[in-house]
Amino acid sequence: MSKEVVLSGIRPTGFLHLGNYFGAMRNYVRMQDDYNCYFFVANWHSLTTHPDTKELKTAVCRVVAENIACGVDTNKAVFYVQSDVPEIAELYLYLNMLAYKGELEKTTTFKDKVRTQPNNVNAGLLTYPVLQAADILIHRAVKVPVGKDQEQNMEMARNFAQRFNHRYGNVFPEPSGFNYGEQLVKIMSLDGNGKMSKSENQLATLYLADDDDAIRKKIMKAKTDEGPSESNSQKPDYIENLFTLMNLVSAADTVKKFDDDFNNSSKGNCEIRYGNFKKQLAEDMVAFIKPIREKAADLQSNEDMLNKIIKEGADKARASASETIKLVRKAVLG
Ligand code: TRP
Repeated sequence: MSKEVVLSGIRPTGFLHLGNYFGAMRNYVRMQDDYNCYFFVANWHSLTTHPDTKELKTAVCRVVAENIACGVDTNKAVFYVQSDVPEIAELYLYLNMLAYKGELEKTTTFKDKVRTQPNNVNAGLLTYPVLQAADILIHRAVKVPVGKDQEQNMEMARNFAQRFNHRYGNVFPEPSGFNYGEQLVKIMSLDGNGKMSKSENQLATLYLADDDDAIRKKIMKAKTDEGPSESNSQKPDYIENLFTLMNLVSAADTVKKFDDDFNNSSKGNCEIRYGNFKKQLAEDMVAFIKPIREKAADLQSNEDMLNKIIKEGADKARASASETIKLVRKAVLG
């Protein structure tokens, strides 16, 4: 039996962080054995916000290197850069004929952008979900590992697929959002304000490119308080988040020790020492991030190797995309 097709895209804006790792890359690595996986860097999507060209190119290379450093294996999954696959742009054109101004204007991401960049409300921004649908449908993918924030884009991709099939004949299966084991870990920023971010709030976000000292400093500065005043208290969000992180990178008995200390604390007798807790977390985090950072840096400094990986990904992605675009042209143009 042939494997189901999985696809996901990452916008090359800012540095990848721990939230990206546990929310996306870790799942990619798990999926690459069981599915026919396509992962790509969505650099066309980034153009909607007019980034500096040189920075965009650097960011694309960094995202490729970091994904591979995280364990995406290009012998198992196809990993490519969106702009290397012109078939996506052609499919985007056909799908644009089936996308209505009203529905595009109603999407929350578009409305957000109208608010945050009122001087650059371009048509690319409006049709962002159409391009995303083209990304997915070009490989006739059925499973799309994405976070909750992408639900609306997924629904639009399904609508466009249905409309296409209805008007021109059945070419596309309907894709849906997907997550391994259903439970996504949410990684909050270290100051307790919202999620870790690719570009904002950098001192409270752990990036895969952070050096050992930066990791230590950020964790030691993470928000804590004077400790629980009753045994078995509920943990405040920012403490819970530090435990979440420790669960992900530390040994089980280490987590248990600090958890027990937390739970056994009471007024005037605080067993958990947040200083020690954070020191331990910092060291385990350093041990976790360091090999990823070093591997990614190696790859980024080896331009030939990186170009070879990108070229091979493009070839494989185009082989699949050109199959689909043949069916699409035949259906639309006869
Ligand atoms: N919009 C997605 C994001 O912001 C990135 C993306 C572009 C994507 N094309 C995609 C995700 C196709 C999944 C499938 O995260």
